[in-house]
Amino acid sequence: MADLQRSRETIDRIDAELARLFEARMEAAAEIAAYKQSKGLPIRDPVREAAVLAQSGARITNPALRPHYAALLEAVMACSRDYQAELLQPDSRARINVRSPEGSYPVILQRGALANAGSLLDLKRRVFLVTDEGVPGEYSRVLAAQCGLARCYTVPQGEASKSLPVLEAVLTAMLDFGMRRSDCVLAVGGGMVGDLAGLAAALYMRGIDWYNCPSTSLSMVDSSIGGKTAVNLGAVKNPVGAFHAPRAVLIDPELLQSLPRRQLVGGLAEAVKMGLTHDAALFERFENPAGYGDIEPILAASLRVKRAVVEADPREGGLRRALNFGHTLGHGIEAASGGGLLHGECVALGMLPLCAPAVRGRLRAVLERLGLPSDLKGLQIEPERVLAAVLHDKKTLADGSLCVVTVPEIGRFELRRLCFDELRAMTLRLFEGEAAADGAASLTAPFDGREKEYL
Ligand SMILES: NC(=O)c1ccc[n+]([C@@H]2O[C@H](COP(=O)([O-])OP(=O)(O)OC[C@H]3O[C@@H](n4cnc5c(N)ncnc54)[C@H](O)[C@@H]3O)[C@@H](O)[C@H]2O)c1
Repeated sequence: MADLQRSRETIDRIDAELARLFEARMEAAAEIAAYKQSKGLPIRDPVREAAVLAQSGARITNPALRPHYAALLEAVMACSRDYQAELLQPDSRARINVRSPEGSYPVILQRGALANAGSLLDLKRRVFLVTDEGVPGEYSRVLAAQCGLARCYTVPQGEASKSLPVLEAVLTAMLDFGMRRSDCVLAVGGGMVGDLAGLAAALYMRGIDWYNCPSTSLSMVDSSIGGKTAVNLGAVKNPVGAFHAPRAVLIDPELLQSLPRRQLVGGLAEAVKMGLTHDAALFERFENPAGYGDIEPILAASLRVKRAVVEADPREGGLRRALNFGHTLGHGIEAASGGGLLHGECVALGMLPLCAPAVRGRLRAVLERLGLPSDLKGLQIEPERVLAAVLHDKKTLADGSLCVVTVPEIGRFELRRLCFDELRAMTLRLFEGEAAADGAASLTAPFDGREKEYL
């Protein structure tokens, strides 16, 4: 016992010394960053990094520890690169840096960014552009003209392209194009294209660079951040995928000009959700008609919410659950609607019963202003099918209850346990167009920390 205590004290002393040395190393990295900036040199210097790693073995006498030391050094060098990038390009409205386990990457939000992509991204190499038939071809052409050598691959529009056969076709075309490890993929489209192209980049040669250029409101505020990539397997959504962060995300709000209005507001339902759960000022923008006219602050605020959530929970261990607000019932409505409603429209409806009554009134007004549905009257959807789909979709706790995200006041969420009968009553109220009834008051005790059971 005394030995254990002594060893722990030794480790504490060494950790304190390591922290001091880490700070000193980062100070030196900051000086190097300033020098490189003054000379216009890139932050990343693969030759120097290889030399540092090559020296590392000689410093460690115990051969069993050499690979561990090399791994530590690689991690320190990655921190150093991220820190240098942050120092040189601090956050601004036009640039949001996202930390991920694979290093940090910028989200560049700039009107006209598409035409400047060549100066914002490293495109002087083979670039494999992936897009879909519904995305105006002009966007790919503008980007291709700024690449070293570009190949454009267009898949049919729609969720069916997020499949293993299409993924295989994309990978085969990448191989035919002669893509090497140093080349990159560029996704130009909505969340479907981003998920498919990102997964192709994650798999090709065990992972190559990719950039995401989202072109729908949903992909701009939500799917482009977080590094999740996936394809569907039959009717099951996203079971085959990987975490593979992009090197950068380029958001040009001009691309929304060509997006049909229904798609635009459907995607904005996710931004409304982020405001409701995390950022009251963002929600209030939707209440102010003048505020909604300017899309950039909405995109920027939503991206900051998503960034905060994915940084706190990069591998989706539980905190990202807050962004599932509205999705439990929303997925049920989506399944029961047989494709008649957009995902965002279903999320909008799914949020209503899970808000406190005062919040619900404000949410309903916002949904109506946006042109999103705010009740199910006249939608020809069987309530029992919604409930069956919810039960099928969601894991329940041992006592049959569900964990749901609720919003007691704007800008704040709570995890709550809800028994199926309560969910059923709330759903039926929604179907009868009485969502203003007090669904939130029927929520049971606050969630007791067993959320892991749902992951
Ligand atoms: N990776 C993630 O974290 C994440 C998060 C949420 C959703 N998703 C995924 O995102 C997908 C949904 O994304 P979505 O809503 O963007 O749908 P989508 O990518 O299917 O695009 C919707 C439609 O808009 C068209 N389109 C795209 N950009 C356009 C433009 N600028 N002008 C005109 N038409 C345009 C497309 O051709 C398509 O027909 C789903 O597959 C979902 O699983 C992923």
